[in-house]
Amino acid sequence: MKSVTVKTPATTANLGPGFDCLGMALDLWNELIVEEGDFNIEIQGEGKNQIPNDSRNLIVTGLESIFTYIGKKPKKFSYKCKNSIPFSRGLGSSSAAIVSGILAGAALSGEDFSKETLVNLAAEIEGHPDNVAPAIYGGFTVGVKDQTKWIIDEVKVPNELNAVLFIPDFCIETHKSRSNLPSTYSRSDVIYNIGRVALLINAFSKNDLGLLNIATKDKIHQPFRSGSIPGFKVITRAAINGGAFGVYISGSGPTIVALTIGNEVTVRYEIAEAARLSQIDGESVIIPISQNGASIINHG
Ligand code: HSE
Repeated sequence: MKSVTVKTPATTANLGPGFDCLGMALDLWNELIVEEGDFNIEIQGEGKNQIPNDSRNLIVTGLESIFTYIGKKPKKFSYKCKNSIPFSRGLGSSSAAIVSGILAGAALSGEDFSKETLVNLAAEIEGHPDNVAPAIYGGFTVGVKDQTKWIIDEVKVPNELNAVLFIPDFCIETHKSRSNLPSTYSRSDVIYNIGRVALLINAFSKNDLGLLNIATKDKIHQPFRSGSIPGFKVITRAAINGGAFGVYISGSGPTIVALTIGNEVTVRYEIAEAARLSQIDGESVIIPISQNGASIINHG
């Protein structure tokens, strides 16, 4: 019997101004085991009661996209998911599912695929590359579409960089959150973001992360989303007071990410205290940035 096990990281997208373009991989992983056999999806851990266990599951969509790409009909497979990535919290759970399915499908197809092909298939399913690209490449990625092709470039991230996360106890559906965003922006707001994306990338290039407090600010999505995240302002202030470089809404939220080197314990404490004093339920955790993306950990 053929089987494959894949592990895929959580990801944090946008980093403030880089809406739909920037993302980083986090050292928090979902594991997927796919075996030839009767169709079945078993889900353990995060999202167990929310994720569909039928053909609507994005793992199946990802796997089937590989077989469609090579023009073959997939066999029947059973799927076992061991999920650690919180579901629908802005940490790339959907992208992890797509990428897991794609990597498993690629391994089971017996053909070789470049990362470029895999990321193009994944970004087409997701519609944007800011979670799927770091889920595949690891680290920090920039993704843009040039005509029909997604171009991904990697940004160097210090090994010691940590994300301190406040993960609220509620979900935000990305498509609903996106539908609340404006469809047009003023020139001054676009300039505000362009400059900050450039500053953010340069801050990483020069390893001058002190610029991140300014560079993670944004006028494209955060002003329209922060109102749905109770305590966003107090938690952000607490993280900066605790010594975080920059703070932003992870993806479409509700998770808030503070980037730190060296003072993550203080930042975590300050965030947890601010949430407690404001009576906001959620979890504060320190998660390193992962330099690695998804990989096959077993192929039988
Ligand atoms: N860039 C996406 C958004 C990430 O902010 O809506 C979530 O999929």
